[in-house]
Amino acid sequence: MIRPAWRSSGILVAGMLAACMAPVMAFRVPGAGLTSLAASRLRVSSAAGGRLQRPAVRRLPAVLHMSASAPAADNAAAEGASTDGKPEVRKRILSGVQPTGNLHLGNYLGAIRQWVANQDKYENFFCVVDLHAITAPHVPAELTKSSFDIAALYLAAGIDPNKSKVFIQSHVTAHAELCWLLNCVTPMGWMEKMIQYKEKAKKQGESVSIGLFDYPILMAADILLYQAQLVPVGEDQRQHLELSRDIARRFNDQYCKKKSMPAKGRRVFREPEALIVKEGARVMSLLDGTSKMSKSDPADGSRINLLDPPEVIRKKVSRCKTDSFEGMEWNNPERPECTNLLNIYKAVTDKSEEEILAEVGHMRWGEFKPLLAEALVAHLEPIQSKYAELMEDKSQLKRVLLEGAEAAEAVAGQTNELAKRAMGFTTRQDLA
Ligand code: TYM
Repeated sequence: MIRPAWRSSGILVAGMLAACMAPVMAFRVPGAGLTSLAASRLRVSSAAGGRLQRPAVRRLPAVLHMSASAPAADNAAAEGASTDGKPEVRKRILSGVQPTGNLHLGNYLGAIRQWVANQDKYENFFCVVDLHAITAPHVPAELTKSSFDIAALYLAAGIDPNKSKVFIQSHVTAHAELCWLLNCVTPMGWMEKMIQYKEKAKKQGESVSIGLFDYPILMAADILLYQAQLVPVGEDQRQHLELSRDIARRFNDQYCKKKSMPAKGRRVFREPEALIVKEGARVMSLLDGTSKMSKSDPADGSRINLLDPPEVIRKKVSRCKTDSFEGMEWNNPERPECTNLLNIYKAVTDKSEEEILAEVGHMRWGEFKPLLAEALVAHLEPIQSKYAELMEDKSQLKRVLLEGAEAAEAVAGQTNELAKRAMGFTTRQDLA
């Protein structure tokens, strides 16, 4: 069962208390020491009848230090065995997709595919960002279904729950709580520069919500809670990542530097970096090679959805925008559609540019389009059948999401506590 965050984070701090006899030790003792580190990972398991027990996760330090010599094995890293006997530290990544409509080829090639490809390299947290999904008008009856759909598609695309934690954002309440704390740290002026907000707000007109304006801060909270070093996203998210870095720096500067602060000399947040693929970072609309493929485009024909049946894919490709040039070529500024479709073909066939040019360079649109459509159908078919399997019996999916939320909550709850302490809040444990 998922515990509410206040309970779980309370339990974490209770664990700290049990071992340190004083929760503030986490901030006061440089490096925090093994005792509090180990204690901070003690959690009460309902399965263990309320006994304190050590989870299978690795030790976390109570705080992250600002200096370059900060301990490597902090709550932003996973240790594993390495060949030279030293623990190998894997970087942590976090990313997410909104459960708004169908996942499309842009989401897949820009984000999910690289998550899958890099699973062994990093310690992975992937969430379905349902709180973000309500920043635009949404249909309540569809939100749960869309959230399950996206999670199932993560798994169907190759996310392995043994290597990656998959969870639903709203199941870990620290996201919303940290968002509020960060709201009070972030200047309005920074937010007014957010390009995606301006673009989306224009479309929503009068009904635009504060939530949409706040979207990038919630995204910063998602990332900062997990001390993620890298955030694999498409090109369109670069500005949001820069904002997350700025917020982390501002928070650390404001609350961790001054002598009077509980977190003096230490940082609470790590500054994340965007991890953007070279190819697939910006998949364009099928109807206009100069605008991004997007879920919010009212024309369904502008995108290939991962769950589009083969006949729909064929129809969409046959209708996609072309030009009057002969032959297929990359990077002709007068032919953005041609470059886009060749990029898609390359991504789904894994062929090199040279191979593709030799294969299709001489072709007319009428010959190339069916080839592209069949390549897409073949690439998506295994994802679609795995998705159907997962949705037929949701028990596996639910188990993965429950376990993912538990693991996510343990990490996020701890960071949230650190942030609150650094800001000077009292906690329930202080009352005991
Ligand atoms: P969303 O759902 O709009 O997009 C999910 C991911 O898909 C990428 N993407 C694209 N990549 C290439 N070409 C396209 N046409 C295209 N369209 C979308 C996006 O860059 C993104 O990586 N704000 C995020 C959701 C989010 C998030 C986070 C991501 C919330 N919190 C924390 C990372 C970390 C978004 O754009 O969702």
